[in-house]
Amino acid sequence: MLLFFILLVIVFIIIVLFAFPRFSPIPYFPSNNRDMKLIVNALELRNNQTVIDLGAGDGAVIFAAAEKAFKQKLNVGFIAVDINPVLILIMYIRRLFHRNRKNIRIVRDDIFRIKFDKLHTPNSIFYTFYLYISPWYLERVIKNLELKIKNFAVISYMYPVKSLKKTERIIKGLKHDVFCYNVN
Ligand SMILES: C[S@@+](CC[C@H](N)C(=O)[O-])C[C@H]1O[C@@H](n2cnc3c(N)ncnc32)[C@H](O)[C@@H]1O
Repeated sequence: MLLFFILLVIVFIIIVLFAFPRFSPIPYFPSNNRDMKLIVNALELRNNQTVIDLGAGDGAVIFAAAEKAFKQKLNVGFIAVDINPVLILIMYIRRLFHRNRKNIRIVRDDIFRIKFDKLHTPNSIFYTFYLYISPWYLERVIKNLELKIKNFAVISYMYPVKSLKKTERIIKGLKHDVFCYNVN
């Protein structure tokens, strides 16, 4: 009986965390697996780069990209940022079993308020931000980045970033397109 009650409470907490905008204003929806290879290619992994997924979900993109960097022996740092504690917990568990875990950081924070200092990586000379969030939130998050750093790349799944149109490159996906930008 007690076990059933505990389970019920856990399920209730999970539903609250996923359903209420106060906890997760952008719903959790992972990047489509059929486009994962294209997405990881679009990140253009190279040495001394940091790849940051802002709103990382269960880490689908970060873990796939970290696997590729591991295979290619690249010195790339990965940071997964999310606000939802359940997804953060899932990423912590996934990281335990990942071959490239030493290069993966998981950060629980709000992507609209996060201070860049928290994402700063000492050996990194180039930052790539991956985003799969609603278009009306995209601009807000990117504005916040532009204020803090110069010279970075933005990879946006499914939604174009209007304010960065000048440098837009589109990769046709099987489910959705991948929009790539360089900001100087
Ligand atoms: C559409 S999902 C994308 C997941 C992942 N990037 C992927 O492509 O598989 C958006 C994610 O943003 C997270 N999110 C929503 N609002 C957030 C906020 N203010 N700060 C950080 N993460 C947030 C949600 O919890 C969700 O996991």
